[in-house]
Amino acid sequence: MTAQARWHVTERSVGLSSHERLLRDVQEGLTQDPPWLPARWFYDEKGSLLFDDITTLPEYYPTRRETEILTAHADDIARLSDAGALVELGSGTSTKTRLLLDALTARRPDLLFVPIDVSVEVLSDAAARTAETYPSITVEAVVADFEDPLGPLPGVAGGRLVAFLGGTIGNLNVAGRGAFLDRLRAAMDVGDHFLLGADLVKDVDRLVAAYDDSAGVTAAFNRNVIDVLRASLHADGLVADDFEHVARWNAPEGRIEMWLRARRPIRARFPELDLDWSLPAGGELLTEISMKFEVDVLRAELAAHGFQAVETWTDAAGDFSLTLSRVA
Ligand SMILES: C[S@@+](CC[C@H](N)C(=O)[O-])C[C@H]1O[C@@H](n2cnc3c(N)ncnc32)[C@H](O)[C@@H]1O
Repeated sequence: MTAQARWHVTERSVGLSSHERLLRDVQEGLTQDPPWLPARWFYDEKGSLLFDDITTLPEYYPTRRETEILTAHADDIARLSDAGALVELGSGTSTKTRLLLDALTARRPDLLFVPIDVSVEVLSDAAARTAETYPSITVEAVVADFEDPLGPLPGVAGGRLVAFLGGTIGNLNVAGRGAFLDRLRAAMDVGDHFLLGADLVKDVDRLVAAYDDSAGVTAAFNRNVIDVLRASLHADGLVADDFEHVARWNAPEGRIEMWLRARRPIRARFPELDLDWSLPAGGELLTEISMKFEVDVLRAELAAHGFQAVETWTDAAGDFSLTLSRVA
């Protein structure tokens, strides 16, 4: 069988379609005080490419730190999980994942790899490239929302490793994170493993700089959500340049927040929803939260949702963590 034959992309939709979900999030989120949107709407093709640029910025340490940990410990993760299937949530380009794939395929050349993401173009490209690099594996990419029920997961019960890298778990608020962990636990079997990448609490200036780089790439990424709204919902009155990028630390919540602040009064119309939305000059829209964690608290939270921590690794600077847990 050729490498070409060993990958495919399927779309999985539970309940609402992506378009219906965007309509719901706009209706529910924009009409709250303060208005907000879930972070997933950044990731059309342009947003995904901008995120890829962010990962190489000098200020954006998480990708380098997580790569450092994976470089040091991918073999440990492969040995401890002994997985025959790797399921990756919010996989994006799966660049760092190659370190895991190297280690896992050294033990199991016939590995099943299941990257899952909402960004169809980036996912398809990553699936094709991964299959080409690892001709012995099978790549079953799935366009799906990790906030939907996740089961049944492919692979043999007890032999799966689910990876959730990049600190993406921080984009969920406390309630959303609990619900996510419950859904994930329900989709997994005893003996399966979960590898979670989480950014750690640190100096506020470094945190803010990571979300407000000097080259303005994160600002462009943030403003891209306005283009997504306008293009996907044929909204009138929305112009990305009418918004200023704002990143700040919310100490009580322990999270970085990204906002879009109106440079002038905004009057937008969403015809499909028959919704008029306005924001005064200086008014703000919350577009992303990124929770920062303490290792002990995170391990306790995992345990409370049925994931028994096996090992936590950090980079040498203690900036980022990877926790491998086992479904108990
Ligand atoms: C912060 S990026 C991390 C990408 C990659 N895992 C990494 O570590 O560099 C978040 C990724 O999750 C995807 N994503 C965001 N929300 C999602 C959702 N609700 N369901 C599935 N994928 C989602 C995005 O398309 C993007 O690829």
